Amino acid sequence: MKRTTTRKGNKARGPLLRRRVPASPCPLFPEIERILVTEPQIARRVRWLTRQLARDFAGRDLVVVSLLNGTVMFLADLVRHLSLPLRLDFIGVSSYGAETRSGDLVFTKQLRLDVRGRDVLVVDDILDTGRTLKRVLAVLREHKPRRVRVCVLLEKKARRVENVRADYVGFQIPDLFVVGYGLDYAERYRNLPFVGVLRPEAYGA
Ligand code: IMP
Ligand code: MG
Repeated sequence: MKRTTTRKGNKARGPLLRRRVPASPCPLFPEIERILVTEPQIARRVRWLTRQLARDFAGRDLVVVSLLNGTVMFLADLVRHLSLPLRLDFIGVSSYGAETRSGDLVFTKQLRLDVRGRDVLVVDDILDTGRTLKRVLAVLREHKPRRVRVCVLLEKKARRVENVRADYVGFQIPDLFVVGYGLDYAERYRNLPFVGVLRPEAYGA
């Protein structure tokens, strides 16, 4: 029998249509284009970070200051694996303006613990333009801590406008809008266990 299947498909059955848009890895949220950082990758990196932190803050009077709300997952995983005595506080920062860009910053929760003379570890979800951390670090320094270090889950170097650097970085990522593992778009997707790329159509880009 003569073969009719070619690279273009089976002539008798019509052309083979290639799927242009890959299936979402997350059936519940088809707007998630792909997973950028998987759960096991996050878990391994968090363990690695906690080992660095345990070494660098051993014997110090440590206050971990976490920025709400994007750090929920990262912070929980980080501190539960951090074998150091520490205290935990939160600063609430919210940006008004376009939802995928950091607009005008508003403090929704102030620091409560006294950090004067103490070591502070600021934990944030993502260092993007650097505007948020720059403002937060300026506020923190008014409280005269002994030293301030910054730990972020993700860093997008390409979009930095402020001269801010993180001392501990989970992953460097390209200039993509990501959600999950605490990160949101319009307050959604924070509960995804991985970091995924949101299709630009989903935020009108
Ligand atoms: P920055 O002030 O531009 O450094 O932005 C920091 C804040 O912007 C983060 O804490 C996030 O809330 C938000 N952000 C920046 N990039 C992303 C992203 O890709 N996904 C979700 N939120 C982001
Ligand atoms: Mg945030």
